[in-house]
Amino acid sequence: MTPKTKKRIRILLIAGVVCFGVLQVIPAKIFGIPTQDIGTNPPKRYTLEAPPEVHAVLRRACYDCHTNETAWPFWSRIAPGSWLMARDVHNGRNHLNFSEWADADEDERQTDFETAWEQVESGNMPKWFYVYPLHLGARLSAADKALLKGFFLKHKTEGAKPDAKE
Ligand code: HEC
Repeated sequence: MTPKTKKRIRILLIAGVVCFGVLQVIPAKIFGIPTQDIGTNPPKRYTLEAPPEVHAVLRRACYDCHTNETAWPFWSRIAPGSWLMARDVHNGRNHLNFSEWADADEDERQTDFETAWEQVESGNMPKWFYVYPLHLGARLSAADKALLKGFFLKHKTEGAKPDAKE
């Protein structure tokens, strides 16, 4: 390696470290990142009535973005990863927040279950960029999906009144 190359590498490394440092202090809120949500878990809790095995699947595949029980590991607090996570948790909770289900009525829960199954069936949820590479445990096997399907759609027939069919 010539001294010149060495110098270039050193400059690149320093520039990288500086950029990384600057990212940490940028007020990302100005471009719409809900940074106020990073690391937050609002107090509201609702415990889903579900068999433990269903609960376990939901917890590992959905709860980080759809409840107030998000696990925020250290890297989810460091920019720019924290921004992505904040955005997903913010939007995810806005669309569906199991922790706030105490406020929902049966009809709303019903609709959420049905949409939830559509999302899982289509492979839309959990989001692939959440699963790879950091949450491999959130992958859903065929058996997990069958379990979720049974649970999500069970309520459909139970809840539906005879005249509500067709
Ligand atoms: C990485 C975070 C994340 C995970 C994990 C996740 N979701 Fe979502 N979910 C979102 C976001 C963000 C949205 C908002 C819509 C969108 O961006 O697609 C959403 C939307 C939804 C919606 C509403 C869709 C609509 O059309 O209104 C349902 C239902 C849903 N998710 C179910 C689930 C289920 C069930 C799981 C677990 C199997 C899950 N999600 C896992 C982030 C996540």
